[in-house]
Amino acid sequence: MKLKLFMLMVCCIQIQGSKTMKHHACIKKHRNSFLWKLKREPPVYFFGTIHVPYTRVWDYIPTNTRRAFDESDNVYFELDLTDVTTGMALSRCKRLPVGSEIKQLLPPDLYLRLKRHLNYVRRAMPSWVTSEQMKKGLTASLMYNEIAGGWERKRPIWIMLMINALTKPDIRSRGVPVLDVHLARQAGVMGKHVGAIETVEEQCEPFNGLNITQALFALNHTLLVQERIRRGSLKIPYSSDDLVNKYNCGDLSSLLFGKDTSQLPTLSNSDQSSDDDVSNDVTNDDVIMDNAMASEIDDYLKEELIFRRNKRMATRVKDLIRRRKDESLFFAFGAETGFRDNQIHSTSQ
Ligand SMILES: *[C@@H]1O[C@H](CO)[C@@H](O)[C@H](O)[C@H]1NC(C)=O
Ligand SMILES: *[C@@H]1O[C@H](CO)[C@@H](O)[C@H](O)[C@H]1NC(C)=O
Repeated sequence: MKLKLFMLMVCCIQIQGSKTMKHHACIKKHRNSFLWKLKREPPVYFFGTIHVPYTRVWDYIPTNTRRAFDESDNVYFELDLTDVTTGMALSRCKRLPVGSEIKQLLPPDLYLRLKRHLNYVRRAMPSWVTSEQMKKGLTASLMYNEIAGGWERKRPIWIMLMINALTKPDIRSRGVPVLDVHLARQAGVMGKHVGAIETVEEQCEPFNGLNITQALFALNHTLLVQERIRRGSLKIPYSSDDLVNKYNCGDLSSLLFGKDTSQLPTLSNSDQSSDDDVSNDVTNDDVIMDNAMASEIDDYLKEELIFRRNKRMATRVKDLIRRRKDESLFFAFGAETGFRDNQIHSTSQ
């Protein structure tokens, strides 16, 4: 989350990354780490994590960051990732009120497109699964059921996020814990006190605050993007490779101030790609209208997921620093912008 990091730049000292085995791939010799230190004895650290399989970034995490983690008595994450009730609370938050189903909420043609897309995904998924996933017993049907099970009872905005998680790159990255989950497990094994500073509801409910027009717009748009990918008229718009590279090279400025600041990347990406999309089922007028609606949704989510959330988190962090004044603290929060549904899903892996 951008502002979180921005505040850290003001309050704390950013630590230079010490050498790791792998950093020859980066352009600059001296990398910044995603570690900040608040001068206090015992120290308080802030570490910016990323929601990708930890194996993609682990070797690049500088030794001084690892040492800070090892030496801290208390580790705090956004959510309690080791608690089973976290997953339950999330499913509850995603569900429609009792008695309603998605079929009643969607225009018939949108519902039909959704079903058609899910059928396609189910048929295509076995060819997406990697041999490593197979070795772990992670089959296409297991993953499909974990992500899409009970979709008829989910809120439209969560169906939209689910569609984004049911894509080839996202499916192929499952089965290895994301960095925060890995750290939470390590902290548990090392007998540290592990805590959370947010609740699932606080992270989830802003999405439910979008109204039905906005949610259907986002779902329609996401389906349009996926339908074009299916037809081959659009390249897969989201790839985490770029993000991982920037993270591994300690490229903070482009993570913080880069152009990809949208909370819903697929909404804007779909418009930019219209050049090579000859099938033009979207007229220019639609695109203009779409942009207005997309940026309205984006503004709302930025306000809720970044600004409001930052203030709330900052208050709790300050409180903890004061209350645990004789203990070392390590806060591990997401450094990447945007939100993907698989963030919390991956806790069960
Ligand atoms: C949804 O919110 C937008 C923006 O606030 C508003 O223009 C629109 O009328 C709302 N739609 C419904 C159905 O409430
Ligand atoms: C989906 O979006 C397209 C393009 O903006 C629009 O023409 C169509 O009417 C939308 N469908 C629904 C069900 O909202």
